Amino acid sequence: MTARIIDGKKIAEELKEELKGQVAQLKEKYSLVPGLATVLVGDDPASHVYVNLKIKNCQNLGIASFNYQLKADTSQEELLGLVHKLNSDPAVHGILVQVPLPKQINETEILLAIDPKKDVDGFHPYNLGKMVIGENTFLSCTPGGIQQLLVRSNVKTEGAHVVVVGRSNIVGKPIANILLQKNSMANATVTVCHSRTPNIANFTLQADILIVAIGIAGFITADMVKEGATVIDVGTNRIGTTATGKAKLTGDVAFEEVSQKAGAITPSPGGVGPMTIAMLMANTVKAARLSIGLKP
Ligand code: GUN
Repeated sequence: MTARIIDGKKIAEELKEELKGQVAQLKEKYSLVPGLATVLVGDDPASHVYVNLKIKNCQNLGIASFNYQLKADTSQEELLGLVHKLNSDPAVHGILVQVPLPKQINETEILLAIDPKKDVDGFHPYNLGKMVIGENTFLSCTPGGIQQLLVRSNVKTEGAHVVVVGRSNIVGKPIANILLQKNSMANATVTVCHSRTPNIANFTLQADILIVAIGIAGFITADMVKEGATVIDVGTNRIGTTATGKAKLTGDVAFEEVSQKAGAITPSPGGVGPMTIAMLMANTVKAARLSIGLKP
C-alpha cells in the first residue's frame, strides 16, 4: 500500500485564503488592522528563517507586522521592557517572542510577561491551563495546526488511538491534551512516549494516528508503524546544506519506507510546518477580533 500524502502546504493555503477574507472584512467594517509583533533575539539562522516567513505571511494576508531584532547579548530587563511596551500598544494584537532565547534570558519569565490576550503562540501558562480544561483559548500553533491538518484531511480522531512521540512543551504535551478533549475534533485515546520510554515500538505499533516530534532524523521506521496508520511528522532536522547553501531538511520519520506501510502521511518539509504559520495568522486575527468584542 502507498500512503495518501497529506499536503500541508495546500491545506495551509486554504486556511490562509479564509483568513484573507476575514482580514479584509475587519478593515472594511471596523477599520481594524490585525497586528503581530515579532521579537527575535540573537542570530540563530533557523530562527531568522522562521521569523522572516512569519513576517512575509503577515504581508500577504494584510496583517500589520512590527518586527524587533535584538542583539544576542540583550538583557532580561531590556527584553521585559519591550514586552511591556508591546502589551500596552493598541496596534499590536499578537506578540511572538521566538524561542529558543539566548542563555542569559529566563524564557519562562518572558513568556509569563506577555499579556495572555496577546499570546498568539499559546505558550502562556494561563492559556495552556485553559486549553487543558477545554476552554476556548489560543492553541499553540504547531499542535493547533496538526489538529486542523487531521480535520481538513478527514482523518477521524474520535475513538482513535493516538500515539505521540515527544513530550516538549510546544508540541508533545499540548497536542496530547488537545486530542484528549471532549469534542468531535478530538475524543481520542492518547498515549505519550518520549526519549526515556523503553521499547517505543511496542506503543507506536498500536497507533491509529502516530504523531512524531522527537527531533531525530528518520527515527520512525516502517517496522514501528501499523499497516494503514496515519503518520504526522513534526520533525524538521537539518541534515546538511544544498549546493546553493540552503539547509537540507528532513523529518523524524523515514518517509520512503513508512509511506509504503502507512495509510496517510505528512511529508517533512511540506506537512506540519506550513500549518504552524497559518495557525499563527489565525491566532492573530482571533486576538484582533476579541480585542473589539467580536466572536473568535
Ligand atoms: N520556535 C519554534 N517554534 C516556535 C513557535 O511556534 N513560536 C515561537 N515563538 N518560537 C518557536
